Amino acid sequence: MASAVLQMFDHPTQAARWLCLAGALLTERGFAADPPKADFSRDIQPIFIKRCYECHGPDKQKSDLRLDRKADAFRGGKSGKPVFVPGKSAESHIIERVTSPDPDEVMPNKGEPLTVEQIALLRAWIDQGAVWPDEKKHWAFIKPVRPEVPAVKNKLWPRNEIDHFIAARLEQEKLSPRRRRTAPR
Ligand code: HEC
Repeated sequence: MASAVLQMFDHPTQAARWLCLAGALLTERGFAADPPKADFSRDIQPIFIKRCYECHGPDKQKSDLRLDRKADAFRGGKSGKPVFVPGKSAESHIIERVTSPDPDEVMPNKGEPLTVEQIALLRAWIDQGAVWPDEKKHWAFIKPVRPEVPAVKNKLWPRNEIDHFIAARLEQEKLSPRRRRTAPR
């Protein structure tokens, strides 16, 4: 059989080259796959919500660890071990805990352990810098500032300050306001 295959090539080294190429393609496709590109909101937060918030979320903070808020998550828990070391998953306590073979140590400490894919995503996310986008402030906590009333070309149409904003936008869009109707008497 092997000799039949070899006969397909006019020289054994050519066959060897083909085998190498096939092998390289295989490793690239499947075996030595690059680590996944991990995005916090898409890949990491859903794991925390589903498997960790129950004990490290808004209601409970076991070992003083909260994983629902960036600053608290990076501050870590009671042990003082850094949960995430950006760029270094091997030094990040979270990886130690989600991969621990010790049933008293492994996290989550209830239910199934994380899947291989979830752990790979966590590792990749930390190695890629542990980028956790800043939470947007709720509007209620943003101090209102009075904006400047914009200058407009059409000085006749606006009757009050709010009209100036509308007129400015209309001018930006190169639209002109409708003629005002006179109020019915
Ligand atoms: C059912 C509750 C529960 C769930 C769910 C859970 N944990 Fe924990 N976790 C604990 C408790 C209790 C401790 C403190 C005791 C200990 O360290 O084992 C702890 C401690 C930890 C610590 C150590 C904190 C420190 O002091 O440094 C880390 C890290 C951690 N958990 C990560 C996770 C992650 C990540 C998840 C989700 C994948 C998770 N945990 C899910 C209960 C839970």
